[in-house]
Amino acid sequence: MKFVLLGYMGSGKSTVAKALSNKLHLPCVDLDDYIEEKEQMTVNKIFQTQGEVYFRLQESKYLKEILEMDSELILSVGGGTPCYSNNMELINQYSRSIYLKGSIPTICQRLRNEKDQRPLIADLNDGQLTEFVAKHLFERRNYYEKADTIINVDGKSLEDLVSESTLSLKEYLK
Ligand code: S3P
Repeated sequence: MKFVLLGYMGSGKSTVAKALSNKLHLPCVDLDDYIEEKEQMTVNKIFQTQGEVYFRLQESKYLKEILEMDSELILSVGGGTPCYSNNMELINQYSRSIYLKGSIPTICQRLRNEKDQRPLIADLNDGQLTEFVAKHLFERRNYYEKADTIINVDGKSLEDLVSESTLSLKEYLK
């Protein structure tokens, strides 16, 4: 079985995926890292030099490649992954998915210090960031909410999130 963690930037997908991978003894793949390795370029650089459309095409291609691998794994995808092409259908076809749902204030607070590595928000000031996140979350909500399980991340520790995720996957774990 494959398990996919999805959600907005800053929702904690990569951190929860790594912790889950340790707990469940399953390999962990991060889609952004996978793309960077395959393309030999950072996501930031791909956006700058090739543009977002190229990034979305590659993202979709590599997502499919990973989902079609013949192995059990935990996959954390990018914040936009579920919202382009038929990615969300593929995710639900090949895996059990968990949406890590954060409120606008939680997401903004986390992103404020980590904007630089994220091409979509790198140039925004605090006010613009809140506006951007609010609008973006509204647009993306319908995709994220197609996940099999929704877990609210506000005010929760990593341990809480790992336990809740494990509980939601109980019937699929050996
Ligand atoms: C994006 C999120 C990023 C990365 C790219 C685009 C998005 O991943 O894929 O910068 O559209 O929300 P993280 O959510 O892991 O930061």
